[in-house]
Amino acid sequence: MTGAARGIGRAVAERLLAEGVEVLAVDRDADGLAELAAAGARTLAVDLAGEAGVAAVAEAGDGADYLVNSHGIIRLLPILEASRRDWRDVFAVNAESIFFLCQQLGPRLRDGGAIVNLSSSSAKLASTVETAVYAASKTAILSITRSFAYALAPRGIRVNAICPGIIDTPMQDAVLEEVARLRGITPQELSQAREAGVPLRRGASPAECAGAIWFLLSDDSSYMTGEAMNVSGGLTMW
Ligand SMILES: NC(=O)c1ccc[n+]([C@@H]2O[C@H](COP(=O)([O-])OP(=O)(O)OC[C@H]3O[C@@H](n4cnc5c(N)ncnc54)[C@H](O)[C@@H]3O)[C@@H](O)[C@H]2O)c1
Repeated sequence: MTGAARGIGRAVAERLLAEGVEVLAVDRDADGLAELAAAGARTLAVDLAGEAGVAAVAEAGDGADYLVNSHGIIRLLPILEASRRDWRDVFAVNAESIFFLCQQLGPRLRDGGAIVNLSSSSAKLASTVETAVYAASKTAILSITRSFAYALAPRGIRVNAICPGIIDTPMQDAVLEEVARLRGITPQELSQAREAGVPLRRGASPAECAGAIWFLLSDDSSYMTGEAMNVSGGLTMW
């Protein structure tokens, strides 16, 4: 379980513990993992932008039933100002590490296991153009998910992606703050405008998102693989 120190990843780790699943909580933020350790999770503090971090997770996760990739970063900037450095940094964390985690840990999961990769509604929508580099990395995750769904299917290992819309986490706070600043409006105005575009007229809690992820891990989704499932209150419907 990566990205476990906060946000969606933390909520997934808590849900897994509540379901009686043994959890290996991974994040580069060691302090953020402390509460999960106290709640009974094993923890591993590594940077997944590099090969060593990915290899450590593949080793520590050997024989697991599930892999949830919820780590990620975002750069918020006008599309005409995005640099190659931005592109490489974001792709290293959001796309490259997920490809190699699926490649190195996927075959070490038990037969009938499941992987969930965190993509985003931005992989399907262009309405927040300040996240163009992030959105491209999240679109790559959909392709990576389909490829590994195909490759691991012979062992009954299912690989799905989830595309959250607006989930109330520290990353979402940064999006509101920074995009509002770039557009010359307040975070409150931006939040209202965004939620007006959501048919259910609200964002979601990390726990609601974790529920959808648990569904994709559990046998309730036993005939689903290669999917890109929306959890967006109707913001994205395809
Ligand atoms: N919050 C949303 O509205 C939203 C919407 C769509 C998709 N997502 C995706 O869901 C996932 C979780 O998002 P969140 O909102 O909880 O984000 P967050 O920023 O609150 O948490 C992300 C976690 O990933 C960890 N992380 C980042 N880079 C890392 C690295 N190189 N190595 C190890 N750990 C690293 C961070 O330390 C942090 O604990 C991300 O992939 C994000 O892109 C979030």
